[in-house]
Amino acid sequence: MDSLTIRRPDDWHLHLRDDDMLRAVAPSSSVMGRAIVMPNLVPPVVTKADAVAYRDRIRAAGFSNPLMTLYLTEDTDPADVVAAHAEGVITAVKLYPAGATTNSASGVRDFDAVRPALAAMEEAGVPLCLHGEVTDREIDIFDRESAFLDKRLEPLRKAHPSLKLTLEHVTTKDAVDYVRAHDLGATITVQHLMLDRNDMLVGGMRPHYYCLPILKRARHRDALLEAATTDDRFFLGTDSAPHPLHAKEAECCAAGCFTAPLALPAYATVFDEAGALDRLEAFASLNGPRHYGLPPNDDTVTLVRGTPDIPPKVGDVAVFDPARPLTWTLQ
Ligand code: DOR
Ligand code: ZN
Repeated sequence: MDSLTIRRPDDWHLHLRDDDMLRAVAPSSSVMGRAIVMPNLVPPVVTKADAVAYRDRIRAAGFSNPLMTLYLTEDTDPADVVAAHAEGVITAVKLYPAGATTNSASGVRDFDAVRPALAAMEEAGVPLCLHGEVTDREIDIFDRESAFLDKRLEPLRKAHPSLKLTLEHVTTKDAVDYVRAHDLGATITVQHLMLDRNDMLVGGMRPHYYCLPILKRARHRDALLEAATTDDRFFLGTDSAPHPLHAKEAECCAAGCFTAPLALPAYATVFDEAGALDRLEAFASLNGPRHYGLPPNDDTVTLVRGTPDIPPKVGDVAVFDPARPLTWTLQ
């Protein structure tokens, strides 16, 4: 097979930032029909009014179909969330455990404090996207996702059995197993399918591979690839997270891989390596819409064999370099 035409994909987890950065990176996601846009701006997107204003700035920057999210805080007004969803302003709400990642200081410390908001969302059918990591100092960073499943997700799921959950950017076999056992939805990034922690740490430390949740062992990557290529509960979410070069190549480097410019060719390359190109359309274009109760995109995109021409930088942001050739490109 030298050419592959699939329904136009969507990105179910994307950071577009704001202002100059937004204008610089928005065109890099133009192949995506829609994108769930993360709300971790400074200050975060917390209210319906914030989401309306941010949506308009994204459209003005040239990305036409953003699906907005609200950043859940301990002060979130449940009625505002429900209204934002009912009026079609937002697609989901994002829960960041406080301190888990970039701009998560306003996130949730006390999970009991967000119970009223979660109950209202459950009642009104508002989906919840989860950054699934605990932040306790004593929990090793490589164990933070698996600890989240037992300590946070299990009680949350039991308290709100009808709440629609998306476990974002899963990175462990433990998370894959949990998603399957409880029939959740989950996104998988392309860097977590391509790389393991050796790629980041052996022979020198590569800051452009540092993201959160952090890259794990090869056996976890294998489990992610198996899930992405066989199971309709898993779908494309790049977590493309641009940071300026000086923030990545720094004494204390920011978390995030800017994968948007090569995301689809890179996913196609790993699916091809796994002998699963016939499953790319489900992962990239069908499973996400089904999870969110939306129709797939009407039009198609075509990938052909070949090496894409990827710029090393977009503005002041280094583009993710998987350090191996990509074998599919957009026609
Ligand atoms: O690596 C990451 N970068 N993980 C996240 O969860 C947030 C993101 C960002 O906003 O930079
Ligand atoms: Zn993210």
